[in-house]
Amino acid sequence: MQLSVKHLLGIRDLTRQDIQIILDTATQFKEVLQRPVKKVPSLRDVTIVNLFFENSTRTRISFELAEKRLSADSINFTASASSVSKGETLLDTVNNILSMKVDMVVMRHSASGAPHFLAKHIPAAIVNAGDGINEHPTQGLLDAFSMREKLGRLEGLKVAIIGDIMHSRVAMSNIYLLKKMGAEVTVAGPPTLIPKYIQEAFDIRVEYNLKKALQWCDVANVLRIQLERQNQVLFSSLREYSLAYGINKQLLDSLDKKIVIMHPGPINRGVELDSDAADSNQSIILQQVENGVAVRMAVLYLLSGGRELS
Ligand code: CP
Repeated sequence: MQLSVKHLLGIRDLTRQDIQIILDTATQFKEVLQRPVKKVPSLRDVTIVNLFFENSTRTRISFELAEKRLSADSINFTASASSVSKGETLLDTVNNILSMKVDMVVMRHSASGAPHFLAKHIPAAIVNAGDGINEHPTQGLLDAFSMREKLGRLEGLKVAIIGDIMHSRVAMSNIYLLKKMGAEVTVAGPPTLIPKYIQEAFDIRVEYNLKKALQWCDVANVLRIQLERQNQVLFSSLREYSLAYGINKQLLDSLDKKIVIMHPGPINRGVELDSDAADSNQSIILQQVENGVAVRMAVLYLLSGGRELS
């Protein structure tokens, strides 16, 4: 089983077969994670650095755990505690780390394209753990894994991605992946948070009415308003956003079917999602987090050349 890519920079670069291989390998690793001994020797002697230039809870811990479960040696780098704060460039930082014989780089950066830049300049395999507003490929993969696990298929599935589409790397990775795998996609939210080009560019539906989007879909993947990436006022207030686009249990119960609720986290409770919906039996938010470890194990394992899996 070989991927067509050397790095995982984005879902955009993957073939349908690559996605299938990653999801199927993740299924095997999920089985490993149910065993009393959750560790396999697959990445013994492989050294991985986790370079986080931007905050993270889920992705960072998930990669660290995936590396430990695969028996890799891992090093954690936090930009704020490094010589980046003294003016060192990204390339110098990474080349210094690689000179200590590091095989793979997992990187999150606030600049879109930062991992693509590194991929042109260093020999190690790179996994994009989220770059600016571009892509978050392992989130897209774990979302797809979770949908497939819950509903048995991706082909023909109706997925609504709801909220701040404009600033969301999760939305981009989900759209690329779901379209490649034959799902139908609607993006929903206020017109100011949905790029004008998106409908034509990706052959997806746009819906500004939340209830219509929910009534249409099998799965709602709900996104956070990315205030840290907005440099202008795009809606009047969080309260008004919540009134028009917030999802609660009463709204879910008013639909004539039971849809699945997903969220990549972190949730702004009471804004895009109320607790009674986030914590309901329709939500698979914590299963997404659990599945993230198996999916990241699969990505690291396959990019390292796919040695024995036992
Ligand atoms: N979903 C996600 O990327 O969460 P973190 O920012 O906590 O890693």
